[in-house]
Amino acid sequence: SWRIPMLVQELAAKVQQPPTRYVQPEQYHPVSLAVSAEKPDSIPVIDLSRLLTADGADDEGSKLRLASESWGLFLVDNHEIETSLMDDLINASREFFHLPLVEGYGNDPVASKDQTLDWLDRLHLRVEPEDERNLVHWPEHPKSFRALLHQYILNCKRIKDCILQAMARALGLEEDYIVAQFNNKAPSFARFNYYPPCPRPDLVFGVKPHSDSGVLTILLMDKDVGGLQVLKDGVWHNVPTSPHRLLINIGDFLEIMSNGIFKSPVHRAVTNAGKERISLAMFHGLDPEKEIEPAPALLHENQPVRYRKMKAKEYLMGFYEHFCRGTRFIDAVK
Ligand code: SIN
Ligand code: FE2
Repeated sequence: SWRIPMLVQELAAKVQQPPTRYVQPEQYHPVSLAVSAEKPDSIPVIDLSRLLTADGADDEGSKLRLASESWGLFLVDNHEIETSLMDDLINASREFFHLPLVEGYGNDPVASKDQTLDWLDRLHLRVEPEDERNLVHWPEHPKSFRALLHQYILNCKRIKDCILQAMARALGLEEDYIVAQFNNKAPSFARFNYYPPCPRPDLVFGVKPHSDSGVLTILLMDKDVGGLQVLKDGVWHNVPTSPHRLLINIGDFLEIMSNGIFKSPVHRAVTNAGKERISLAMFHGLDPEKEIEPAPALLHENQPVRYRKMKAKEYLMGFYEHFCRGTRFIDAVK
């Protein structure tokens, strides 16, 4: 069968060379793609606390708009998540990935035998709606895992709403326009990514280039090991490690809602020969039955509608097909 034979973690312990199915076609080799020599700190940083104050909100809101138009992602400071919660959660997931194999843990879906595989294992958990949590898949070891994740989810919800309100204001929309798109059926997912050390980082991707499908992704990154890269104006940039900052990443749904003013950035993860790396992505999606369309208030005679309206579930079907092939569905709905 062409299904994935084993976890990348097991593979990494065995092989000197990534098997052919993981090796990117030559033109996509991570090393053959230029990475900007620009200082990595050109990635914008937003101060969340300023978005909430009377005298800072406008200023910081303009920075937010600029970051969302140009990069589509940015780092966030002063988010008020306890640094100990961030560290404990990453450490608990590291401990989890070091345990013997359990259910719920594995690889991404594979759509065909020709699909080039990514060098990672992941744990994918539905976290919202809360009453649809499938707790059998939630690790019970380490013991702290569930409680830490629950605390973290609550914080992400708060930060997501704060940023989406500021983004709506920055677009000139009603403050609650974007948050109102989420009803009680809107799903969120926590995706724990585990990248084992890779003998040949020049041949494989940790995660191949893609943009995220949902509205907004909140990414908690490894404090010490980098690997995330973002494409801007045709050039790849390293996203620096930045302890206790969060990375916010605009998803396709938000690019569509903003009628293309905000970018859903193409990004990828590269691997590391000597070190494992962990990241936690919190994806915020929409009710599968919800129609996704550009905000009517953003459309004018000289700002015509740029994306086809479709239900979230229809979008996701196209999205996964394209993701497996390494292409972007959003280009097909324009
Ligand atoms: C992803 O975007 O899918 C992975 C991000 C990361 O591990 O930094
Ligand atoms: Fe992503």
